This record gives sequence, structure tokens and C-alpha cells, in this order.
Amino acid sequence: MNRLPTSPRVLSLANQKGGVGKTTTAINLGTALAAIGEEVLIIDLDPQGNASTGLGIDRKSRKVSTYDVLIGEAELRDALVPTAVPRLTVAPSTLDNLGVELEIASSGDRAYRLRKAIARHVEAVEDAGEKRFTYVLIDCPPSLNLLTINALSASHSILVPLQCEFFALEGLSQLLSTVEQVKRSLNPELGIHGIVLTMYDGRNNLSAQVVQDVRTNMGDAVYETIIPRNVRVSEAPSYGKPALLYDLKCSGSQAYLKLASEIIQRERRFRAVAA
Ligand SMILES: Nc1ncnc2c1ncn2[C@@H]1O[C@H](COP(=O)(O)OP(=O)(O)OP(=O)(O)O)[C@@H](O)[C@H]1O
Ligand SMILES: [Mg+2]
Repeated sequence: MNRLPTSPRVLSLANQKGGVGKTTTAINLGTALAAIGEEVLIIDLDPQGNASTGLGIDRKSRKVSTYDVLIGEAELRDALVPTAVPRLTVAPSTLDNLGVELEIASSGDRAYRLRKAIARHVEAVEDAGEKRFTYVLIDCPPSLNLLTINALSASHSILVPLQCEFFALEGLSQLLSTVEQVKRSLNPELGIHGIVLTMYDGRNNLSAQVVQDVRTNMGDAVYETIIPRNVRVSEAPSYGKPALLYDLKCSGSQAYLKLASEIIQRERRFRAVAA
């Protein structure tokens, strides 16, 4: 397998636990990165298609989806849909992705379908002299299935949302051992970008306790920025808008802007170490 192109940086939002904030983070971190000048692509790999819906892409507009790309019937370029946010593009998902595993399970490159599609896209954009994406965020389904493996094989690193709840750390070791396995067998470049604590409730002692526990266990892997529980963030998808467009001033939007700048700083540090 060829090395990953250094640009765009490809990050998977992954956690096999459901409802921890993967999609909310993909949408709002993507929007925040675009707002500070990055060219961002969100790849929706979840058959639920929540990232696509939350970005206002209705089902009718998903003529070509990531399913078509994974089964080799379309190029990534054909699936791209612009969003209401300047510099933010999405490759939408549909329920078809429920069947992708059956379609590609017997092919030798089943774990590399997405990686190859991104590589072909980067090459085509370069040949055409077009503007390239600087960040690709992949929204994974709540499972460690072949869709998530395709995401991890295509990524420089994984970004793990953890909900501030009693069982926050449960399942994390399984996720981290999957990352190790993918690193060993499929993608030696895969690293852990960081862990983002989500849905923090300041009125609740438990939330503070969880933050302390996760920081004690995971140390520097945990971003400083914590995403608060904020009703504006949960309302925004029903308007087909990122929270940052729906209410820029709300605490959730402001936290995602802060997370974006922390991520860019971390990227600079990674690059300085790699150089
Ligand atoms: N900061 C927040 N404040 C309030 N609600 C939030 C916040 N983050 C996420 N939510 C809500 O929590 C629910 C789960 O979030 P989300 O869909 O992002 O999780 P997920 O990990 O992508 O879920 P799934 O595993 O089903 O894909 C959604 O209803 C979302 O609106
Ligand atoms: Mg989701």
C-alpha cells in the first residue's frame, strides 16, 4: 500500500458506542475548520446518513453516495455535494451502506476501498490543478464493521468522541485495540489524534467526575476543549444546519470553534515532530 498523501489530513470520527457525538462533532468541527479557512470534506459512512441530513442534504439529492464509491460504481468526485457552509463539502450516505459489507466482503481490497478512492481523488485534483481539501473528516457508524475499518485504513488518525456519562470509558479499550490491529495489519500511519469529551453538563457532579477519570486514564490524548451539552446543538440538525450556522454564539458552537483551533495546533505539533 502506498503512503497516505500528507494533504489532506484524514481524520476518522469513530466510537462503536452509539450516540456519543460522532456525527455532531463531524458536522460542527467540519464547519468550524471551514470557517477558519480550511477546505473540508465530510465523508458520511454511516447508513443512518445523519451527517448528510444534518448538513441539509435531503435524500433526493443523494444521487451518488459513499456506497456507490465503496462498491466501485462511482468516483468520490461524483458523490460530492456542496453545503450551505463555504469550503465545506459532503459525500453523503444512504441506507444502501447497510449492504456494503456483503457486496465487498469477498474482494481482496475490501478494507482499502475508501483509501484508494481518496487517493484517486487527490491525484485527479492535482492533475487538474484544482483546489484540494485540507481536511477530510469521516463520520463512522456506531460499530467496528467493515465501514469503520475502511475509514481507519484511510486515515492519518482517529478522533474519539466520549460522552460525559457514567460508562464513558467502557468500550474504549476495545476501540483502542482495534486501532492497534488496523495499525499493524492495514495502516501503519494510523495514530490517535485525540479524545473529545462531549455533552458535558456543568450542573451535574457526574460530568466533572467523568472528565477527571478520563483525563487520569488517557492523559494528553484528551483535548483541553470540552463540548458542553447545549440544546441549540441538538436542535440545529432538524433545520438541516450546523450549530455554527444556526446559532454561532451558543456555547456549543463556541466550543467547536475552540476545538478546531486546538486540532490545528496539534496538527502543527505532529508535523514538527515528523519533520
Ligand atoms: N453537545 C451536545 N449538546 C446537546 N445534544 C447533543 C450534543 N452533542 C450531541 N447531541 C445530541 O445527542 C444525540 C447523539 O449525537 P450524535 O448523533 O452526534 O452521536 P453519534 O455518536 O453520531 O450517534 P450514532 O452512534 O447513532 O451515529 C443527538 O440527538 C445529538 O443531537
Ligand atoms: Mg452518528
